[in-house]
Amino acid sequence: MRLVLFGMAALLALGCGDQGFGTVGDGFVSDAGVGEPPTGDLPEDFEAARLRLGQALFFERELSGNRDTSCASCHVPFLTTTEPLPLAVGQGAAGVGPSRRRAEGAIQPRNTTDLFNRDDPASAALFWDGRVERLRDGTLVAPVALPPGLNTPLEAQALLPILDRGEMRGQPGDVAVDGRPNELAALPDDDPAAVWAAVLDRLLAIPEYVELLHRAFPDEPLGPALVARALAHFQRELWEVRDSRFDAFEAEGDPGLLTPDEHAGRALFFGDAGCARCHSGPLLSDQRFHNLAVPQLGPGKDPETGLDEGRFLVTGEPADRFRFRTPSLRNVALTPPYMHDGAYATLEAAVRHHLDPESALRAYDGAHLPASLRDTLHADPATLDALLATLDDPRPLRPLTDAEVAQLLAFLGTLTAEIEVVKGPGHGVPARVPSGLPVDVWPGGPHPHR
Ligand code: HEC
Ligand code: HEC
Repeated sequence: MRLVLFGMAALLALGCGDQGFGTVGDGFVSDAGVGEPPTGDLPEDFEAARLRLGQALFFERELSGNRDTSCASCHVPFLTTTEPLPLAVGQGAAGVGPSRRRAEGAIQPRNTTDLFNRDDPASAALFWDGRVERLRDGTLVAPVALPPGLNTPLEAQALLPILDRGEMRGQPGDVAVDGRPNELAALPDDDPAAVWAAVLDRLLAIPEYVELLHRAFPDEPLGPALVARALAHFQRELWEVRDSRFDAFEAEGDPGLLTPDEHAGRALFFGDAGCARCHSGPLLSDQRFHNLAVPQLGPGKDPETGLDEGRFLVTGEPADRFRFRTPSLRNVALTPPYMHDGAYATLEAAVRHHLDPESALRAYDGAHLPASLRDTLHADPATLDALLATLDDPRPLRPLTDAEVAQLLAFLGTLTAEIEVVKGPGHGVPARVPSGLPVDVWPGGPHPHR
């Protein structure tokens, strides 16, 4: 069972993202204090409070067992909601973005995804292996029993990093940065509800959160779903962005909106290059799973083999070995490195992998990677053969010339939302969070994409 997303395109009017974005005014995103009482009539009031609550939570290290990691430690707003590291760095790491330092054992198995358009109706499968998913009948599926009150995959997803020991929760016996015991890590892995309840207790011990929760969700029963919904609301309001030249051209059809190379690249993408076989629909992703034989890098998901078998870990179907969800290509030019494990540093390398996956896999030596990561590359013949055994051949319908590859890259650039390029540093970052813990910000210097 897999969703077919083409039919949904009609639902997704251009510009709805812009409108959401417009509600996030300067006063909210720059130096306005979080928790300042929102003003206005009730509907606006709780909308504003929900946004403020979501913003505070997204940057709130109190959500992590050791009080050292927030969502924004890895999904760095200044770095277009991701980070320039091939693989995420979890518990025990220090710093944000490029300065984020690896601590022993802290490397996570996968590349930090961007968060653009993840609450779009077309965004049915979350995580590289789709372990959070909305089925065709609307049911939400997740690896753990979800609390009541969640409506979208993005809302369900928000409760999972909190449970993850490597990303946010920490190990039994850990002591938080403020010297208090890490009570979240002491809870058993098979009782997610207890962990969420303990996180909620932490928040309710801070009067500003009590106030924000009441304002954001008047008359709703207190529970972890409110935390998840506020986090999803913040991500939706900030990062549902659809104002790219690609969108403008699709809506208006004015040929002058794209350069000749971009037009040629677009024709290839939807034609001979065969990209739209998988990169289809409003997010340029079929939300299905394919094995492109991307080099296996990092600690993997299986402690014994050190491999990451992707979708197989969710379904147990041998045919799903090494399949990963087709990523959305919106803003793709802004979010290196690429693939589920960040194996490729540049967009060109990621695209070229598709042209001849077997040669790319066999030639890959990770020379551009730091030695510690390069050492984790699985380049042994058995692994390469296993990767190629279930390959979903992504090759173009005919070989492409170098000039055509350049045209494809030019086309991918048209998927960049204008707003992402123009918005300034500090966008979405609160001046403080209610716990008083440090806020994860870009460590300074020019915004890398300006
Ligand atoms: C330690 C770094 C780290 C932290 C902290 C973190 N994330 Fe992530 N996030 C990741 C990585 C890595 C992935 C991809 C994991 C996978 O596919 O298995 C991801 C995936 C996601 C996704 C899925 C997007 C997609 O394309 O499928 C969303 C949404 C998300 N994170 C939101 C959050 C929120 C909200 C928080 C805080 C509650 C958070 N993350 C905390 C690293 C992090
Ligand atoms: C058979 C399905 C399929 C086809 C055809 C395909 N792709 Fe992909 N693409 C994927 C999957 C799956 C991934 C992620 C693979 C992984 O991480 O293991 C991906 C990754 C990417 C990425 C990296 C994005 C990121 O955020 O990491 C880019 C860029 C990309 N594809 C562009 C293209 C272009 C351009 C074409 C046409 C030449 C194309 N793809 C054809 C399935 C496909």
